Amino acid sequence: MKTFWQLFDEHDGFESLKHNHYPEIYDEYFGPYRDQEINFLEIGVRQGGSLEIFRKYFPKANIYALEIDRNVIPSDIFKLKNTQVVIGDATSAGTIDQLMEKVNGKFDIILDDGSHLPEQQIASYNLLWRHLKSPGVYMVEDLVYNYNAPWYKKEHTFMDFMFKKIDQFHLQDDMKPLNTTRLKFPKRDYHSIRFHRNAVVVKKEGLPRNRGDQFEEIRTQSLLSKFKS
Ligand SMILES: C[S@@+](CC[C@H](N)C(=O)[O-])C[C@H]1O[C@@H](n2cnc3c(N)ncnc32)[C@H](O)[C@@H]1O
Repeated sequence: MKTFWQLFDEHDGFESLKHNHYPEIYDEYFGPYRDQEINFLEIGVRQGGSLEIFRKYFPKANIYALEIDRNVIPSDIFKLKNTQVVIGDATSAGTIDQLMEKVNGKFDIILDDGSHLPEQQIASYNLLWRHLKSPGVYMVEDLVYNYNAPWYKKEHTFMDFMFKKIDQFHLQDDMKPLNTTRLKFPKRDYHSIRFHRNAVVVKKEGLPRNRGDQFEEIRTQSLLSKFKS
């Protein structure tokens, strides 16, 4: 199978604009899903170049896309096989309801390449996280806008929102953090939050069922106990 970079490099359809290190990130996290009948969502279509490439990258997937501006999408993009584009605002609950009416179940992968505005990245994440399967992958691109004026070093950027998730992710059920507004409860459905240059990938996955719900220590048998007896 061709890598994302190979497909991007040979692409001669509508334009797609991505950072040059994203292809390797896609291969790392999306690679295991390539031959499966997954549900894949991309926020942000513009000319639709990335949808055309993802169409080849995931030959068996049901592909969905959200775009706020109908006028930027060439009509051919609406004809892509097994691909549905919903026109609407990815930060609106109404749009997400409309989208979910078309989806059978939940998404395996969600990729946010929309406005890149921090408040919109947060709003879409809050609306879509519950529609991500476990296991599932949520990737947000172009974090750089969090560092631009007027957001830089302000609270409530998407980065700030992620840092709070990291705190919750490490929290154990029996811990009583001092700042309870920041850390209300542990994040049990988080597998990992990984930062790459200009992008974050959050993996959803609870603990294996047979190991209980809690974040607990496990211990091997001690060699010493053999010698004591
Ligand atoms: C970076 S472009 C997408 C590029 C495309 N993924 C590609 O690589 O070919 C971002 C697109 O997101 C759309 N967009 C901006 N805000 C949005 C929102 N709130 N909901 C849905 N789409 C939005 C813009 O109109 C624009 O077409």
